[in-house]
Amino acid sequence: MRRRLCALVAALVFSPLSFAAQQLAATPPMGWNSWNWFAGKVTDADIRKAADLIVSSGMRDAGYVYVNIDDTWEGKRDANGGIRSNEKFPDMKALADYVHSKGLKIGIYSSPGSKTCAGYEGSFGHEEQDAKTYAEWGFDYLKYDLCSFRDNMRQEHPNDPAAQNHMMRDAYEKMHQAILKTGRPMVYSLCQYGYDQVWQWGPEVGGNLWRSTEDISANYNSMMLIALSQAGLSKYAGPGHWNDPDMLEVGNGKMNHDENVSHMTMWAMLAAPLIAGNNFTEMNDDLRSILTNKEVIAIDQDKLGKQGDRIHSGDETEIWSRPLADGSVALAIFNISEDRTTMRGQRLHLKEAGFPSGTARARDLWTGKDLGTLKDTDAFTIPRHGAVMLKLTK
Ligand code: GAL
Repeated sequence: MRRRLCALVAALVFSPLSFAAQQLAATPPMGWNSWNWFAGKVTDADIRKAADLIVSSGMRDAGYVYVNIDDTWEGKRDANGGIRSNEKFPDMKALADYVHSKGLKIGIYSSPGSKTCAGYEGSFGHEEQDAKTYAEWGFDYLKYDLCSFRDNMRQEHPNDPAAQNHMMRDAYEKMHQAILKTGRPMVYSLCQYGYDQVWQWGPEVGGNLWRSTEDISANYNSMMLIALSQAGLSKYAGPGHWNDPDMLEVGNGKMNHDENVSHMTMWAMLAAPLIAGNNFTEMNDDLRSILTNKEVIAIDQDKLGKQGDRIHSGDETEIWSRPLADGSVALAIFNISEDRTTMRGQRLHLKEAGFPSGTARARDLWTGKDLGTLKDTDAFTIPRHGAVMLKLTK
């Protein structure tokens, strides 16, 4: 326990981020983003509706506070170069006020390039002006997506990847400084798909979170491929600066209950930002119970901020563990096979999870049941693509 406290204090003191930046995202940001469901069709009315439903569905009270507008809100610039929203978003300030009136925060999206990924106006050459505008409108969060800036990098430094990467870092730092200059706290979300091992330099350019992978799609294979690619990244995350394996697809596509449970379990183990991406008008009780499970969210939001990592990789199961502030450990067992497993002949890897005696008291976070004392040889029956998530104590 004492060691954990020291680790927490050391993480705060030695972080490359300012104290203010650490406070801003002391735990992984939680909210909702328009892209995974609405993509280019999103409108002002959709954002207002999402804000209404995030409150009435209990999502806000579970911790989801950011309502983030993704790409396609951007209009043309005015005569002075100021960015304007397009006809889908008639009044950004009024929209931000509306979202704030619900006890929520609001996020916006841009690119260091001259065009966003969907071909709308980016911030290239207008960084300070844009940050100022976002602050005046009342935004609390910026997702900054590399997009067409890759063309600038290639054009200026053909065949010189190191120089290209340097340019990319500078571009992210430029917007970081522009945000600071506004004086308005804004969570800064880097989106450049994990290029150039962003986890090694993301905090230095003010990143509170950085995408560590390419885009997620709404299916189990995409989600699990991303999840497993995060092994080894735990040392780069901590209070104020998080690896971002992309927004949640819980409720999108054809993922079934067990697959959604695996998705949410893994994101909580990874101390990942929990940015839902589903259509709230179609949210049923099953989805709601997965997205708002208090005990699972508490793991994601654990104050120690130590990301979980892999302790076992097999053909049938993956086992990941995550140390928690109160001295307990989260343990997740994923059935990555195409059949139900009874874990025959497999161990729980309790020693590797920090229990040298090979036993631990366990609570099942998805069923909400205390399981008593577990032995390393105890087994779980886990459905195809499902997961078990435990909180272990001595
Ligand atoms: C992608 C990004 C997505 C979404 C999209 C918008 O590059 O990874 O999350 O923001 O652009 O065009």
